[in-house]
Amino acid sequence: MIALTDLVFRWPGQATPCLDIPDFALADGELVFLHGPSGGGKSTLLGLLGGVAVPEQGAIVLLGQDITRLSARARDRFRANHIGFVFQQFNLLPWLSALDNVLLPCTFSARRKQRAGDAHAAAARLLTHLDLAPSLWQKPAAELSVGQQQRVAAARALIGKPEILIADEPTSALDAPRQQIFVDLLLRETVESGAALLFVSHDARLAVHFDRSIALTDINRAMQESVV
Ligand SMILES: Nc1ncnc2c1ncn2[C@@H]1O[C@H](COP(=O)(O)OP(=O)(O)OP(=O)(O)O)[C@@H](O)[C@H]1O
Ligand SMILES: [Mg+2]
Repeated sequence: MIALTDLVFRWPGQATPCLDIPDFALADGELVFLHGPSGGGKSTLLGLLGGVAVPEQGAIVLLGQDITRLSARARDRFRANHIGFVFQQFNLLPWLSALDNVLLPCTFSARRKQRAGDAHAAAARLLTHLDLAPSLWQKPAAELSVGQQQRVAAARALIGKPEILIADEPTSALDAPRQQIFVDLLLRETVESGAALLFVSHDARLAVHFDRSIALTDINRAMQESVV
């Protein structure tokens, strides 16, 4: 599903790479928790997986396709078709309703729209499963609470059943009990959709909910060198 080999990435102007990952893989439907200290490169790694940035070396094979060999446009299309992202800041469009935010991936990707079937019904089903009351569905995203926005962001990532879900610290704005509830909901829906999930957080307490837990320090040689 996801296979990284010999990946090296540095930000412009950096003397040493921020990521140097010999090998990292995720199986179909696997639920993986990735943790590591702030500034360690977690978001950078997710950006590479999402095709937002390209490494200076190495392969990023997603669903059998090495995305480092694609043009920027083709990477964007690949991401829209196959990857659902839940960002730390959610990246919802504030003036759009909760429901329209969830429907967005279906307007960017014909494949997601087709896999969603009746997109409106799929969005309603996801929002219901994620426990967002129907009275909130037409509200602009900007008028929702943080926890509510998080659920909308999760529904948006899940609609149209992308094979890969990536979540970057989606719980950091919530208190502990709400974090727990959100992770449970996200995992339940991920399992139902059959996607593989890479969930990133610096909060190692959440790891118990996942099939596998990985420390970025254990797979990233760049970090091991800088820590020692
Ligand atoms: N756009 C950018 N341009 C240049 N350097 C960057 C950029 N984004 C991140 N970095 C640098 O790359 C390193 C890794 O940052 P990254 O955001 O990936 O860490 P992180 O593990 O996600 O941290 P956090 O837990 O705080 O979110 C940091 O040293 C950071 O300063
Ligand atoms: Mg980050």
